[in-house]
Amino acid sequence: MRAVDIIARKRDGLALTAEEITFFIQGLTSGQIPDYQVAAWAMAVLLRGMTAQETIELTMAMVRSGATLDLSSVAPIVVDKHSSGGVGDKTTLAVLPMVSAAGLPVVKMSGRGLGFSGGTLDKLEAIPGFNVSLSVEQLLANARRYGIALSGQTPELAPADGKLYALRDVTATVPSLPLIASSIMSKKIAGGANAIVLDVKVGRGAFVETLEDAHALAQLMIRIGEGIGRRVTAVLSDMSQPLGLAVGNALEVVEAMETLRGGGPSDFREHCLVIGAEMLLLGGLASSPEESRAKLLETIADGSALDKFRTWVRAQGGDVRAVDDPSLLPHAPVVEQVPAPRSGYVAGIDAREVGLISVDLGAGRARKGEPIDPAVGIVLGTKAGNWVTAGEALFIIHARDRATAFAACERLLAAYTWSQEPVSQPPLVYETLRSIQGG
Ligand code: URA
Repeated sequence: MRAVDIIARKRDGLALTAEEITFFIQGLTSGQIPDYQVAAWAMAVLLRGMTAQETIELTMAMVRSGATLDLSSVAPIVVDKHSSGGVGDKTTLAVLPMVSAAGLPVVKMSGRGLGFSGGTLDKLEAIPGFNVSLSVEQLLANARRYGIALSGQTPELAPADGKLYALRDVTATVPSLPLIASSIMSKKIAGGANAIVLDVKVGRGAFVETLEDAHALAQLMIRIGEGIGRRVTAVLSDMSQPLGLAVGNALEVVEAMETLRGGGPSDFREHCLVIGAEMLLLGGLASSPEESRAKLLETIADGSALDKFRTWVRAQGGDVRAVDDPSLLPHAPVVEQVPAPRSGYVAGIDAREVGLISVDLGAGRARKGEPIDPAVGIVLGTKAGNWVTAGEALFIIHARDRATAFAACERLLAAYTWSQEPVSQPPLVYETLRSIQGG
């Protein structure tokens, strides 16, 4: 078999066989197939697509490129969650302690922010001392002992995805449904969970912008999961505007902690309840979404979710005092409150633009491996659909210096659209799709 023939077949719109896909993924993992051929193949896949069967074969070839975690020592059923990436998405920080406090142990591997999209590891590292680089042994030991553990993706799991994703990132081949589905699902399957809740973000601040594409992506990932006996639930959720109010690492930690205390923005709290409820359902801890919700609300009301957050921070070396005293988290030297330039209904807040502005403030990275500033970011004063009177606080910018704050302010004002007529708020969740078989 030759890589060039496989690229040519995909270029001509033919379906690849399982053997061809395995050969290609083995070659890219070992380095025998050079980057330029992998890039050409990725572009052919983006332009020509893949059948569901090819996508399943691709996913499993990527799983076989490395090790697979065995979580059976943690609990009989371990449920993972994964967000396809967005702006202000600090769901993991709040939902993991809630779900764990409700009795379902959670073990999760997360990523860093890239481009406009934030990453859970960066957010947790805003807590002084928090260690996101646990060995597999530590991860499992913490999960068994505390019922909650999170670490960065280890290079041993689905290494083919690590290589392929890095190439896709620089060859404009990220937005391909089969490549996104196989990338996410190979990591989740290698991560060992029996069941997975996928938070598929839709809109300007997501990798997938239309509901149609998000639906197709969700169906594809459910089919991949079902094919190997893993139950998958996909929640299609809005990312046209940021989730919650805070965008920026330490700022998002504060918002997640407020939510665990029973406060926090109502959209973010509701989103956590939706995702957490699906996790409890898959984990067999509840038999209806209503029962799940009630259990999660109880963890907030009785303080057990916040206690679990404290346990988690302590277990991973973080300064637990910061949970009750957020002044111990990093703070930006410049904090600028910006008033609304006009009165009106906020018709939209462009999530992608907010994400990019926060990257320019220093909260994210344009290139893999760049350092970030945990303190900087944006806190919105309101969300789309609400009335604002001129002069009211529209947003607050947390910046390193006045010049970057000023530049961010100008751009952020332009990210708002206004209406004089009432506008409806975008729905939080568009659709929930569940496996009918598997697991
Ligand atoms: N998240 C992933 O893990 N992979 C993709 O391809 C896109 C989003």
